[in-house]
This record gives sequence, C-alpha cells and structure tokens, in this order.
Amino acid sequence: MSHLFDEQDLHYMRRALSLAATARGCVEPNPLVGCVIVRNQQVICEGFHRYYGGPHAEADALAGRPIDDVRGSTIYVTLEPCSHFGKTPPCAELLAKYQPARVVIAMEDPFAQVSGRGVQYLESQNIQVHVGVCETEARYLNRAYLQLQTHKRPWVHGKWAMTADGKIATRTGESFWISGDESRRLVHQRRAQVDAILVGSGTALHDNPMLNPREGGPRIPLRIVFDSQARTRIESNLVRTAHQYPTLLWVGPNASRQQVELLRDHGCEVVVSHLPTTATRLEALLFELGRRRCTNVWCEGGSGLLGALLDLELLDEIDVFIAPKLFGGQDALTPIGGLGIKHADAAITLHHWNVNRSGNDIHLNGTVQYPS
Ligand SMILES: NC(=O)c1ccc[n+]([C@@H]2O[C@H](COP(=O)([O-])OP(=O)(O)OC[C@H]3O[C@@H](n4cnc5c(N)ncnc54)[C@H](OP(=O)(O)O)[C@@H]3O)[C@@H](O)[C@H]2O)c1
Repeated sequence: MSHLFDEQDLHYMRRALSLAATARGCVEPNPLVGCVIVRNQQVICEGFHRYYGGPHAEADALAGRPIDDVRGSTIYVTLEPCSHFGKTPPCAELLAKYQPARVVIAMEDPFAQVSGRGVQYLESQNIQVHVGVCETEARYLNRAYLQLQTHKRPWVHGKWAMTADGKIATRTGESFWISGDESRRLVHQRRAQVDAILVGSGTALHDNPMLNPREGGPRIPLRIVFDSQARTRIESNLVRTAHQYPTLLWVGPNASRQQVELLRDHGCEVVVSHLPTTATRLEALLFELGRRRCTNVWCEGGSGLLGALLDLELLDEIDVFIAPKLFGGQDALTPIGGLGIKHADAAITLHHWNVNRSGNDIHLNGTVQYPS
C-alpha cells in the first residue's frame, strides 16, 4: 500500500466525493460512496451508491462496461471497497476482475467486516493501492456513518432559529416565526434526509409542532419527544397524526401509566426508560436509536434539551439561522441551556465552519469539537 499521490488524484477523488454527497439521506445507514474511473487522463465512467440496498458505487460506475475499457485504468473510490457478501457481492473482487492498474482510496472502512480486508484483497491481486487521498474530506462526508460505526449512536445535529440578540423565543415563550421562508424551506429539506427529529417536552407542549418534512425528500423521519413525565398532550399535532407519521415518546419511570397507555392507544410508540436521571435516559435514547441504525438525528430544541445534549457532549453539529430581529428580555431563552462551561478559555469550538445567506437570514453550520 502506498501513500503517494498527485494533483490529479486529488482532482478525481474530489469528483468522486461530490458524486457521493448527492445521495445524502438515501443510503443511510450505509455510507455515502462515489467512484470515478480514469484511463489515459479521461474519465471513462463514474457512479455512486444511490440508495440503501442498491448497487455499491463501484458496481454503479462499472455497470455495462466491458473489461477491456477498464483494464489498466485508475479507479478512485471514496471508501475502501468491501470484501464481504452483504446485500451485494464484494466490490474488491469486482474491481480486481476489471484489472485496473491502480485503485486510489480516500479512507479505509472501519466497518468490522471490511476494515483493511478490501485493500489486502486488491493488493493480493497485484493491483497498486493508494490510501488516504482526501481522507479528511471523506471522513467529514461520512461523519454520521463513522459515528454510528465507532460510537454506536447517531450523529446529532442541533438546529435553531434565533434573533440577532441570540434569543430563540420571546420572554413569553413565543417563537413563531423567527426565521424567514427560505430558511424554513431548507429545514424541511433537511428533515427529509434524517432518520429522526427530536424535541424536548417543553417545545412539544409550547409550540405544538408537526415535525414532518413538508418539502418532499427521501425519508419520513421518526418524530421523537424526550418527555420524562409524558406531558405531551393527546390532542397535540404530534399525537393526532401518530398513525400517519411514526412518533416515539421517550418517557421516565414516573410517567403516568394511564397517560402512557392513552398515548399508545393513539398510535405513539412509548418507551419507558427506568434509568434514574434525565441525563442517563437521554443517553439511553441515543444508544437505542443507534441500535435501530439511525444515522442522523436532527434536534430542533428547545434550550433545555440542547443544553443537556451539549453538557453530555452528545451534540455533534449545529445549524443556526440568525434573523435580522431583536427580542430583548433577560428571561427570553437562548438556544443552549443546561449547565454550560465555567471558564471562557474552555470554550467548545466549532469546526468546518460555514456561513451562508438564507434569504434575509444568516445560516451558520459547524461541527462541535469537544476538548479531548
Ligand atoms: N427558535 C427556535 O428554534 C426554537 C426551537 C425549539 C424551541 N423553541 C422555544 O423554546 C422553548 C422551549 O424550550 P425549553 O428549554 O423550555 O424546553 P425543551 O428543551 O423543549 O424541553 C426541556 C427538555 O430538556 C430536558 N431536560 C431538562 N434537564 C435535563 C437534563 N439535566 N438532562 C437531560 N434532559 C434534560 C427535559 O426533559 P424532561 O422531559 O425530563 O423534563 C425536556 O425534554 C419554547 O418557548 C419554544 O418556543 C424555540
């Protein structure tokens, strides 16, 4: 295995990464993977993993290609080709059949059944293998997949809309509507790419949200309320539509049994966690979602829940919409409550920081980096 690569390798690998990214929301819990095949400095075919259970990126790129076209080429693939029989046959064997001169891989797949075996197989077939081209970008692309593989819990995105003075609601708790149409459209698109949308019981009670995607998209996310006392009302929009959209209430040991049964009768899944604290119950919820192979969870607040997630170092990424408005009021909520940190020099930093306009709002996005 070699780590040598040049500008061209970077160029084609970036193309493969951008192809992979187009399937966001369609392939999870599988990884996003792209593949570009180049011979004599020309792209002869390309492909990506398009949907869960569908052909892998390599098979998609090679579909219908005669071996003679591909022999002696360089194959760029954003994740190590698989070496085991899963829903599809092993890609490492498929690639070897086409006799490329080189296979360039962005990163090894930590998935237990692959984890270096794809590289080993290719090398055993006398194919030159280069690993690590655009590895940082590839890891960022598949951050949610990697999280699920390594930490057995989903990637948690926190989302909120706030005023320019950092308030998510007025002092009376009103929050409709802070952000503009364009930002709300974006949120609906993102909702349709994730496995679950999570809110706290305060938000469920106060805002009576629907939490369904209204812009169309690949997924119908599970709607979840973290609600220790099972306070979510039977007549709420969430419970009223529970037969239509999957709805999970994660309640504590002291929730009223009668209310739990009533919520179940109305079509909600209610899980009673008997763990003693809200923090341990919140962790348990995320590990249960990981067990169900949920890859991305989109948390829409409120302040209490996002604060608890941050305190527990369970918040992985944020999407913030800042509207050109002011609410004022020292009792008006800010986006992240909880305990918070004590000293400014211990501030939790944000990486992959992106700043964009969204209509009249500013859209900020970044991944959360906890001190190790
Ligand atoms: N502008 C926006 O983007 C936006 C978004 C959402 C909400 N809001 C506004 O925010 C307000 C609601 O926010 P909120 O903070 O009052 O309610 P919330 O965050 O929706 O509800 C509090 C949540 O925090 C949990 N919690 C509290 N302490 C915890 C701990 N130590 N460990 C784990 N979990 C803990 C609670 O669990 P239990 O069930 O155990 O109590 C509950 O689920 C409303 O006014 C709403 O309009 C604004």
